[in-house]
Formats: sequence, structure tokens, C-alpha cells
Amino acid sequence: MSNTNQGPVTVLGLGMMGAALADAFVRNGNRTTVWNRSAGKADALVAKGAVAAGDVREAVDASPVIVVCVSTYDVMNDLFGPLSDALRGKVVVNLTSGTPDEARSAAAWAADHGVQYLDGAIMAVPQMIGLPEALIFYGGAQEVFAGQEELLKLLGGNSVYLGTDAGVPMIYDLALLTMLWSSLAGYFHAQALVSTVGVSAAEFLPFANTWIEHVITPAIPESAEEIDSASFETEISSLNVNKAAISHLVKTSNQLGINSDMSVAIQALIEKRVAAGHGTHALSSLVEAFKK
Ligand SMILES: NC(=O)c1ccc[n+]([C@@H]2O[C@H](COP(=O)([O-])OP(=O)(O)OC[C@H]3O[C@@H](n4cnc5c(N)ncnc54)[C@H](OP(=O)(O)O)[C@@H]3O)[C@@H](O)[C@H]2O)c1
Repeated sequence: MSNTNQGPVTVLGLGMMGAALADAFVRNGNRTTVWNRSAGKADALVAKGAVAAGDVREAVDASPVIVVCVSTYDVMNDLFGPLSDALRGKVVVNLTSGTPDEARSAAAWAADHGVQYLDGAIMAVPQMIGLPEALIFYGGAQEVFAGQEELLKLLGGNSVYLGTDAGVPMIYDLALLTMLWSSLAGYFHAQALVSTVGVSAAEFLPFANTWIEHVITPAIPESAEEIDSASFETEISSLNVNKAAISHLVKTSNQLGINSDMSVAIQALIEKRVAAGHGTHALSSLVEAFKK
């Protein structure tokens, strides 16, 4: 299988992300066929040299590699259901977000119909597509990834193959998203707290930044060592100490009329571990509270 980034490619779905993907191929000079349910979204790409297909079948027929980026797996499944004959022997690279099970079902459908399938998770915003630092995870047959690696690097310079299980990229996707949402939600909670004493986000920013740099960032690799060795004893900050501190956060948030839902959820995890006899453990011991 040739590994080139010059071949013809089709992009199905020209939303915010799909349009960025197609644009990266057009900029590289690939013959890029595009299709979108709402046809007008192809216009800007066609002006740059893309070819608009009249329907999904025409788009699939145009290229050996089909990149899909639509809102859900259900949408992709509905598009592909009637086209299994046209897809046979083609490479499908699905960059739609969903769950690991949806990815595995799509891979099983593809295998049943002779389609070479890669499932991908884009850990970047559209503006980052094509940059060296754009991270995209892939799962599926190793030889299919190897055959398309150069082409896929046009979308994300940091394209990482995670193995044959097509569900794994979605696990990584959700793992990084839960970090994003919970860490930023903690920051927003912090800003709401300081706002009660008239402090603006800009005024608080230097303290948020120094806290992340000198306390949170170093805790990530330290915690990784503790988790992998299942060795949670600490000389720094125990769950017992954090249990007391988070009760102050919940109480104060409630008194100030600030939403405490997230703090209450974290408090419950800490209390569960302390009740199980792990009060002397580091915070990283909470990983065990997440496991059922
Ligand atoms: N945007 C990001 O930063 C980002 C980052 C990582 C991953 N993703 C993932 O990429 C995927 C697309 O995201 P997006 O930001 O491009 O979303 P979007 O702008 O809302 O685009 C959604 C796309 O899905 C199409 N679509 C929806 N329902 C359809 C249907 N029933 N039949 C045919 N096409 C249908 C839309 O077509 P119409 O134009 O006709 O509505 C459009 O092309 C999502 O799974 C998202 O989670 C996005």
C-alpha cells in the first residue's frame, strides 16, 4: 500500500471541523471532493479548487480515501448504510466524535463490508488543523494507518496511532475532555468566588497562573507515578487534610450563593476514600474512587 500525501481524497461533512479538514487537503494540492448536506457550505472550498459532489455516492466514488466528519455516528451510519457496495475496498477515516462502542460498531460494520476503517479523535479546534501540534488519535488496522499516515499528517502533525481497537481513540478523547471540563470548571468556580469580593478575572489571573504552574502542573507527573505504582502514601497533602479543606469550600460557596455542585461531587469522592481507610493517601488515590 503506497503511503503518500498527494492522492485524491473525499471529505463528507463540511461543518466547522469538516471544512477545516477539506481546506488542509486543498492547500496541499490533493484532488479533494467534498459533500455536505447543506450544499452552500461547499462553495468556499470549491472556489479554492475542491470539487463538489452532487450526492454522497458520487463523493464516495471519487476517491479511494473517504474522510468523514459529521455531527454523530448515527449520521455517518445513515449516510453509509445504502452505500456498502460503493465503499467496499475503500479507506474510511472517521473523525466524528462519539463513544468507544459507537466506534467499535462502525469498525465492525466496515469489516463486514470489506471497508478499511480508521477511527480518529481530533484533539484540536478547526484553526489548528494542519499545524504540527494538532493532535489526532487513530485506531484500527495498523497497515491501514501506515498506508495513510502521510496523508493524515496533513490534518494533524501529531497524528498518533493507538492500536487495532477502534474504540480506544474515543477513550483518549473523553479522557482529555474530562480533564478540560473539570479543570476549567474549577477555574470558573474560582472566578465566581473571588467575584464576591469585587475581584475581576484579570486581577485574579496571575494567581491562577502561578497556581497552575507551580502546584497543578507538577502534580500531574507525580500523580502518574503514584497511580502506576499504586503507592499513594504522601508527605505532602493527605486526603484527611483535603477532606477538611473541601468542607470549607462547600460551606463558603453555599453561604455566598455560589453553585457548589462540583465541590460536593469531589467532596463525596474524598469522603468515600477516607471512609475506606485511605485518609493518609495523596489526592491521586481518588483514581480508585472513580473505578466501580
Ligand atoms: N469543532 C471542533 O472544535 C471539533 C473538535 C474536535 C472534534 N469535533 C467533532 O467533529 C464533528 C463535527 O463537528 P463540527 O464542529 O464540524 O460540527 P458542525 O459545524 O455542527 O457540523 C456538523 C456537520 O454534520 C452534518 N450533519 C448533521 N446532521 C446531518 C444529517 N442528518 N445528515 C447529513 N449531515 C449532517 C452537518 O451538515 P449541515 O451543514 O447540512 O448541517 C455538518 O456538516 C463532531 O463529531 C465534533 O464533535 C469538532
